[in-house]
Amino acid sequence: MSGDLKPVYLDYNATTPIASEVQAAIIENLDNWGNPSSSYAIGKRAKSAVDKARSQIAEMLDAQAVDIIFTSGGTESNHLAITSAINKYRESNTNTLPHIVTTNVEHPAITQPLRHYEEQNMCNVTYVPVVKGTGRVNVTAVLDSLQPRTCMVTIMLANNETGILQPVQQIFSEIRKLNLTRSEKILLHTDAAQVIGKLKVSAGELQADMITIVGHKFYGPRIGALYCRNPQNIIRPMFFGGNQERGFRSGTENVAMIAGLGAAAQLVTDNIDGYTKHLKNVRDYLRDGLMTRFQLVLNEEDPKLERGEVMWRYVDSHMLPNTLSVRFGGFSGNQLLAELSDTLQASTGAACHSGGSVSQILLNSWNWSEEGASQTVRLSVGRETRRSDIDRVLDGLAGLILGDEAVTLSRLKGRIVTNA
Ligand SMILES: Cc1ncc(COP(=O)(O)O)c(C=O)c1O
Repeated sequence: MSGDLKPVYLDYNATTPIASEVQAAIIENLDNWGNPSSSYAIGKRAKSAVDKARSQIAEMLDAQAVDIIFTSGGTESNHLAITSAINKYRESNTNTLPHIVTTNVEHPAITQPLRHYEEQNMCNVTYVPVVKGTGRVNVTAVLDSLQPRTCMVTIMLANNETGILQPVQQIFSEIRKLNLTRSEKILLHTDAAQVIGKLKVSAGELQADMITIVGHKFYGPRIGALYCRNPQNIIRPMFFGGNQERGFRSGTENVAMIAGLGAAAQLVTDNIDGYTKHLKNVRDYLRDGLMTRFQLVLNEEDPKLERGEVMWRYVDSHMLPNTLSVRFGGFSGNQLLAELSDTLQASTGAACHSGGSVSQILLNSWNWSEEGASQTVRLSVGRETRRSDIDRVLDGLAGLILGDEAVTLSRLKGRIVTNA
């Protein structure tokens, strides 16, 4: 049905293409091959490219360049944040285990290292459950979970599957007040992988000590960075070697990719309001189109959805502007995506879950059974998604779910078609 057209990509939470400005910066800096640690001209030139990118990333977060540490990506940034908190605690507390607070909807790049360090008897972890039906963690529940041994709170800014924003700023500002009276200060970390490039992120406003930055989620290369306020007080390195990144992360810098990350950050600094507006406009067009074609079921519980019925949670102020996680009655998400593979490229959850078992994130976020969670497809739009792309996806979905006649009817009459 889609002729020569390529399937519409609606999986921008999994990864984004590289922006042309980013590609240009990378290509230009492939020639900038000197070692930034060398004192002669080509080394200095490479160092200045790294310095420029550091400033660009800092500016994107309203931060200082000295607070940015380049890493290989989000997974490494999260590990660096966690191991720093654990090792810092252990330096002054040899008899007790550090305690870390997080939620039960974090990305595996947080939960897996935490589980590993728990198994190694290096820390204890509290996984505060989000409130079912909202996908959001309760501020008081997080504060109630704090202990004298708590050395870190790590809470993602937005979930990659549901698109739900967590109340990170409120939580961090309360903990900052508590920290004034605590001998063991709690480090505040947020994984902002899904938010940077979609909504404005300001390190100062969030009151975070550490923020994870992931290039390929905002049209940059597959490297990342960790924002860390006063890193000399906080960072305990994982990698030792040539003392690059002021010793916080040894290893000769990947200059071309770092320059690309800087260019991606520059685009965000210059255009974030426009990006947010566009993403929301297209995502809302998708939502409205789904409501025109299918029957939206408003229910916090777990009803059995009929074919032609859809469900989602949409709370504007608590959501990424680009994401709609949709449950389709009568189909499993995997089945629906397989049937529509010529029209739509999306996923049933995080990329690493695709094709696997039901997403625990959805089960923890909503009041749904496994069947409900398995009927879910994550649709996430990007900078280049147009309304015409959404129309194609909507037609494809309606054709599959309701039959071709219903597609024509809904187009002609522009009215709600609830069933085939
Ligand atoms: C919220 C979140 N954190 C961390 C990561 C990990 O990033 P990477 O796989 O690039 O290391 C991702 C990527 O899917 C993510 O969505």
